Amino acid sequence: MSAGPRVIERIKELREVLDIARAKGERVGFVPTMGFLHEGHASLMRRARRDNDLVLVSIFVNPLQFGPKEDFAAYPRDLDRDLLVCAEAGVDLVFHPGVEEMYPEPSAVTVSAGPIGEILEGRTRPGHFDGVATVVSKLFNIAGPCSAYFGEKDAQQLVVIRRLARSLDFPVEVVGCETVREPDGLAMSSRNIYLSGDERTAATVLSRALEEAAALIRDGERSGPKVQEAMAARIGAEPLAELVYAVCVDPETLVEAAELDGPALLAVAARVGKARLIDNMKANPASSRDARTGTSTAEASITKG
Ligand code: PAJ
Repeated sequence: MSAGPRVIERIKELREVLDIARAKGERVGFVPTMGFLHEGHASLMRRARRDNDLVLVSIFVNPLQFGPKEDFAAYPRDLDRDLLVCAEAGVDLVFHPGVEEMYPEPSAVTVSAGPIGEILEGRTRPGHFDGVATVVSKLFNIAGPCSAYFGEKDAQQLVVIRRLARSLDFPVEVVGCETVREPDGLAMSSRNIYLSGDERTAATVLSRALEEAAALIRDGERSGPKVQEAMAARIGAEPLAELVYAVCVDPETLVEAAELDGPALLAVAARVGKARLIDNMKANPASSRDARTGTSTAEASITKG
């Protein structure tokens, strides 16, 4: 394990360090986070470590992406532990700015995530993705040319950020990384700390609902609404979970799919106790087993061809 990352709190200093590295031809890998790091974050850091010469992690709980009734003040923070996680993953630099460093002016210019930020998560968290788009734009401008690593766990956020990078021409390659789960299927999240023992057990209903929906599709179900109903019923049957949404959408546009004839994203959100949890899974009907013939479409085309 290395001596641990260098912690930088000032934008100017970080820019200087990164510019020097890039002038030497080093590739920069960037993992933006809000801290309270877990194995999901660590997997992004290890991927960034593999692909780059210098690895930067930002730890900043961004007030702009929390609603007035949300958990900004209570959001868990533990910098010392986070630095150990970063050291373990071979991170070189940790950017840990204060709120006044990131937002020195109260009524600054902000970035809109556009209509994609208003559906699904955006419906119950108005302004959330504008807050994400604004802080990520600032972080991309501060980091400069780099590859930036984001989790598929936050599928809508990943779509928003890919569009942001394309729309505003950030010199950043956005890389999506697979969701890391607990052994019982629960997607790792900093907010899992809010769950009591019973709630922690109940929270597995999200991944179970997704697994069951993916199995339905594998077995030949092609109706988007039927898949959605099955997920909603599974989550609805868990007394400690309160369903927010359960949808089957196009992975690029996040529009609900009536007929499943291409890659689909299954996405769910539910409240369990104080925690608002989200999870998702990809499904691809085209590569699923064909219920009528009992062969996968790929196999079928090989035997016919
Ligand atoms: P945070 O929730 O700390 O997550 C930081 C990154 O870790 C995100 O890209 C998220 O998708 C990823 N991540 C979280 N849990 C994961 C898991 N179980 N498996 C894989 N990746 C996981 O997302 C944010 O912070 C913020 O919105 C941010 C982008 C930093 C802007 O403030």
